[in-house]
Amino acid sequence: MSKKLFIETLGCAMNSRDTEHMIAELREKEGYESVEDYREADLILINTCSVRERPVHKLFSELGTFNKNKKEGAKIGVCGCTASHLGKDIIKRAPYVSFVLGARNVSKIAEIIHKDKAVEIDINYDESEFAFKDFRSSPYKAYINISMGCDKSCTFCIVPKTRGEEISIPDELIIAEAQRAVDNGAKEVFLLGQNVNNYGRRFSGEHEKVNFTELLRRLSKIEGLERIRFTSPHPFHMDDEFIEEFAHNPKICKSMHMPLQSGSSKVLKDMKRGYTKEWFLNRVEKLRAECPEATISTDIIVAFPGESDEDFEHTLDVMRKVKFDQIFSFKYSPRPETEAQHYTNVVDDEVGSQRLQQLQSLQAEILDENAKRHMGKTFRVYFEDLNADGYVSGRSDNNIVIKVKGSEELLGTFQDVRITSLGRTILTGELVA
Ligand code: SAH
Ligand code: F3S
Repeated sequence: MSKKLFIETLGCAMNSRDTEHMIAELREKEGYESVEDYREADLILINTCSVRERPVHKLFSELGTFNKNKKEGAKIGVCGCTASHLGKDIIKRAPYVSFVLGARNVSKIAEIIHKDKAVEIDINYDESEFAFKDFRSSPYKAYINISMGCDKSCTFCIVPKTRGEEISIPDELIIAEAQRAVDNGAKEVFLLGQNVNNYGRRFSGEHEKVNFTELLRRLSKIEGLERIRFTSPHPFHMDDEFIEEFAHNPKICKSMHMPLQSGSSKVLKDMKRGYTKEWFLNRVEKLRAECPEATISTDIIVAFPGESDEDFEHTLDVMRKVKFDQIFSFKYSPRPETEAQHYTNVVDDEVGSQRLQQLQSLQAEILDENAKRHMGKTFRVYFEDLNADGYVSGRSDNNIVIKVKGSEELLGTFQDVRITSLGRTILTGELVA
């Protein structure tokens, strides 16, 4: 009988890709099969996130639950970013944990499961990281890493400490991986990196100079590949060449994630983001001029140390001007090993909560306004998910989630859909015959 594996994945798309790789390694080398219920598993893994404090708390409460109810003899391993930053302290706090494997070390999963109490959290680059297995959780789209780590030093962010310095994966490996995904039926690739448009800054050895724009051009030559998405680009690196390629290359999906973080140039400076409010708005203007149909999403942090009411008003001002199609908003959470954790001009927690609420209600109004534009319009949708309620859902080129009544046969196909009913996160429509 095969051994059973349960993995819980917290955090970002890069963690999801790491999970796919670990599942594939454990399948091929150790004969594991995945199960949905951790109580049946011989090996329980938590792939962790440490970007804010809450997921770290969640880890320890989950670990307790897993340990209490797990099958007798089952092992528990902690992987990912919290593994990288807490290391052996995890085993000190939860002695029943069998091993700790950092975000940069996931290729070692098949070895570490045999080493009791091992801690592998080296963040130096290792070329074995580049060759991720082709196992995909969705047959329709392929997540592909294009770089590892991050070389920025945003003062709030722990990621450079958990994922190490930035290394670009050679473009020929990325193109070969995308080609294999297309050969296996995927029509969309989703390129991943902490800072994708800084691609090409550093390769591990001698390598031809290839920047992100050139990588996109090369990838779009793959026949049968219809859609290219990526996350996340950095506003600082959005030069004209990149925006023009985005706008005019028909394979690149017209949705851009532009993580603003704050609308105040003063706060942006304290965050060491490398751009100002004016630069951000200028890039949005350029993007909208080249590509009016593009949707724009963003990340915003409120209550960063020193954020005054006036600074926060600048954030609301950018929101009113840009009218983002989606916002991921967070209250600042001090993280270990970051510069900002030492800042003493903290914002009162209650003020932070109020700002978050104010921001989210403004966004709700903007979304209702934005959605009205979509009524009666037709979008080309790539269907990927079968919903429980007799609907099938997918995304438009510009990343709007749309559902229609239907079944499996729509999955993996492109269809024209006319919008008949609006919602903030999902629109409903009917197929255009
Ligand atoms: N470059 C990565 C950023 C990863 S962190 C990417 O673009 O995907 C994802 C988001 O979490 C950040 O954009 C930021 O908005 C938020 N975040 C990071 N550190 C944070 C902190 N200390 N407190 C609150 N939010 C944070
Ligand atoms: Fe974090 Fe800034 Fe890099 S948000 S991942 S340090 S670009």
